[in-house]
Amino acid sequence: MSIAEILERSKKPPLFERSRANIWDDPHISQQMLQAHIHPEWDAASRKHSFVDASVHWLHESILPEASDILDLGCGPGLYCQRLARLGHQLTGVDMSPTSIAYGKKQAEAAGLNIQYQLSNYLQLDLEAAFNAALLIYCDFGALTDDERHRLAANVFQALRPGGIWVLDVWTPRFRSPDELPKTWGVEQYGFWSGQPHLYLSETFHYPQCDVYLDQTTVFTEDEASTVYRVWERMFTKETLLSFLQPAGFVIKEWFGDVAGAPVTPDGVSLAVVAEKPLTRTVSK
Ligand SMILES: C[S@@+](CC[C@H](N)C(=O)[O-])C[C@H]1O[C@@H](n2cnc3c(N)ncnc32)[C@H](O)[C@@H]1O
Repeated sequence: MSIAEILERSKKPPLFERSRANIWDDPHISQQMLQAHIHPEWDAASRKHSFVDASVHWLHESILPEASDILDLGCGPGLYCQRLARLGHQLTGVDMSPTSIAYGKKQAEAAGLNIQYQLSNYLQLDLEAAFNAALLIYCDFGALTDDERHRLAANVFQALRPGGIWVLDVWTPRFRSPDELPKTWGVEQYGFWSGQPHLYLSETFHYPQCDVYLDQTTVFTEDEASTVYRVWERMFTKETLLSFLQPAGFVIKEWFGDVAGAPVTPDGVSLAVVAEKPLTRTVSK
């Protein structure tokens, strides 16, 4: 591969241009992600399990109606689904990772829990008034493009019954800084990015117009192949988050600092919101 090609593969793309490959459903990387989800001490693909426990406790005690029908979007291997099912809620978990869904199904079966796991893309959901709560946890809203955010908000609104709630969290501008845009590389026999000998080049880009970061990694393997992985991450204020929730018809019930019920603080790195599908729809102009 020529230097010109490497430069081409590694350049800053236009805002929200997706890579063809995706970390969540790549056969090798999704196995690494599963290990990250289920490691109790890692804040990686899922938050530390002590946080997940606190979050489920808060959701169950303070936010969710008793015995709710819950749609967990981007459920991963089911850390939230399992815990909430044990507390008497009915869970449907949707995720695009075959590895995570297979693991979640096996775990639920072993534990005798009746959880409906669906391997699908939540941007293509077409469910009608079937749930009284939806979750999108660990700041996944920020990984979408703006168009996808509008589509997802409309899908979730349609999937909820009137009076149903959507709980989601996002990062705030305090989470990342445009002064820290790392460039890293590595050569490995076997590693996170590939199961075969490879070189990877990673670079972070910032898009100041909407406070979006891109973590882009290009992986080169011996067969001269190269694969680009892009992970987008938007930072939100209350106003920018509202600009996606309100047009879909949601009204805000309450703001929090995270999905374990922390209060909102000016220097908080995350925001969580409980948004409601009103009993009667008001059309926003
Ligand atoms: C950061 S992880 C969070 C997992 C889980 N919510 C938790 O906190 O343990 C994001 C999850 O969303 C899934 N995901 C990302 N985009 C998706 C999409 N468009 N449709 C379905 N699942 C998606 C990924 O496969 C991954 O399991």
